[in-house]
Amino acid sequence: MSSLPQSVTVSPGRGGLPRVRVAGPAASGEIYLNGAHVTSWRPDGQGDVLWMSAASGYSPGQPLRGGIPLCFPWFGAHAADPAAPAHGFARRTAWDLLGAEEDGDDMRVRFGLHDSAATRAGAWPHRFEATCTVTIGPWLSVTLDVVNRDDRDVVVEEALHTYLSVGDVREARVTGLEGAWYIDKLAAPELVAQDGPIRFTAETDRVYLGTRATALVEDPSRARAVTVAKSGSASTVVWNPWAAKAAAMPDFGDDEWTGMLCVETGNVGVDAVRLAPGEGHQMTAHVGLAPLA
Ligand code: BG6
Repeated sequence: MSSLPQSVTVSPGRGGLPRVRVAGPAASGEIYLNGAHVTSWRPDGQGDVLWMSAASGYSPGQPLRGGIPLCFPWFGAHAADPAAPAHGFARRTAWDLLGAEEDGDDMRVRFGLHDSAATRAGAWPHRFEATCTVTIGPWLSVTLDVVNRDDRDVVVEEALHTYLSVGDVREARVTGLEGAWYIDKLAAPELVAQDGPIRFTAETDRVYLGTRATALVEDPSRARAVTVAKSGSASTVVWNPWAAKAAAMPDFGDDEWTGMLCVETGNVGVDAVRLAPGEGHQMTAHVGLAPLA
């Protein structure tokens, strides 16, 4: 790895896990090597746009609760192996820090992960190379690049499982997905068309498929709006656990669900990506903050 710019430092974070801190000209941020997991993005003069649970664990081999878990190479439960960890192994694995650069107002930090004896022995025995590039600036961008290093086609699911901090999810709404087809994971597995903006009145767990639309989270209690734009992604997942599910999760504070909302950039289910040997795929989530118009 080449030397890091002065504004990028690596030190033990919570639980002693290695953490990259970025203090850029337009924003600051934090990324844990465990999962190449972005846990903080603060544009200058603003509070954190990402939500982290105060109850999150910080242990090697375990996912963090909040920020941007990187789900790969499957999403949710593994289709064939119920014992395999939910959302894949990438969010539980220590990534390598590859380097960091300054580029005007942006600070870019790159992380790498490839198959190992441990990953090949699990539910997904394939060879691959993945790079995660985190850009901390006036916008937060996270890019996942994946290359199939196997000698046969592989199918990958992936998601940048973005937890956004909101004043009160019951007051928030998401626009941009009107008319998009989704599967409600809490109801019958059939496609439903989104009717108007999304509002939150109960547990919500929806997988929007075949959509490349930008989503806008309107957060009136904070008088701000968060944009989640994307490229290379055909799925958007919208999730809030509500009270009972939050209370049942050991790494989620009982009352914290009102202050968060996930808008996840991904390729999951029928949108999974098939890669021929040597072929690569790139997916990016761009998160931006603006006053509520
Ligand atoms: C969402 C899924 O993406 O992640 C939900 O759609 C799931 O079904 C949620 O409950 C959290 O998953 P986990 O594995 O981090 O508890």
